[in-house]
Amino acid sequence: SSADKLDYVKSKIGEYADFPKKGIVFRDIFGALTDGKACVYLRDLLVRHIRDKYPDVELIVGLDSRGFLFNLLLATELGVGCAPIRKKGKLAGEVISVEYQLEYGSDVFELQRAAIKPGQKVVIVDDLLATGGSLLAATALVRKVGGVVLESLVVIELVGLGGRKKLDSNVHSLIQY
Ligand code: PRP
Ligand code: ADE
Repeated sequence: SSADKLDYVKSKIGEYADFPKKGIVFRDIFGALTDGKACVYLRDLLVRHIRDKYPDVELIVGLDSRGFLFNLLLATELGVGCAPIRKKGKLAGEVISVEYQLEYGSDVFELQRAAIKPGQKVVIVDDLLATGGSLLAATALVRKVGGVVLESLVVIELVGLGGRKKLDSNVHSLIQY
């Protein structure tokens, strides 16, 4: 069942105190991705969620860098395209930029203008929601080029940091801490 799959994936997620800075508890998705069964279960859970709730999705947008683990996977399963939001200076052509704060620092995200057609229905995907700074910035970029954000989808949500409250799009997480 889905509950069994979720429990299995959760049991494989790593936990590291004081990484990358003192006071941060780092939840490590790679602990799950090194396990073949957890990979398959994660794919099943994410694909089922989108098929059930957003069958009209047209593009999956993944966040640099751990979101990329899921955007091509979901795009190929669903038969839609995918696009990256990348950290500053990595994307060619005409890009738009936004600065943002995250749990342990600040950075700049960019999106290629040509990646999204006006009115296109987008699901944004990432491994983890902490303070919500990254997904808030990503949502702003997608909207600025005319995309419609159906949902922000993450594997892990750190509920205590309140990131969900910062976002005005739908938010879904598979696993909560
Ligand atoms: C991590 C994580 C999310 C973001 C969440 O990425 O993968 O993208 O932080 O934090 P927030 O909700 O407080 O914004 P990071 O910037 O560390 O980059 P990485 O994926 O390249 O490791
Ligand atoms: N990104 C932001 N905060 C994080 C955390 N606590 N663990 C893993 N990735 C993160």
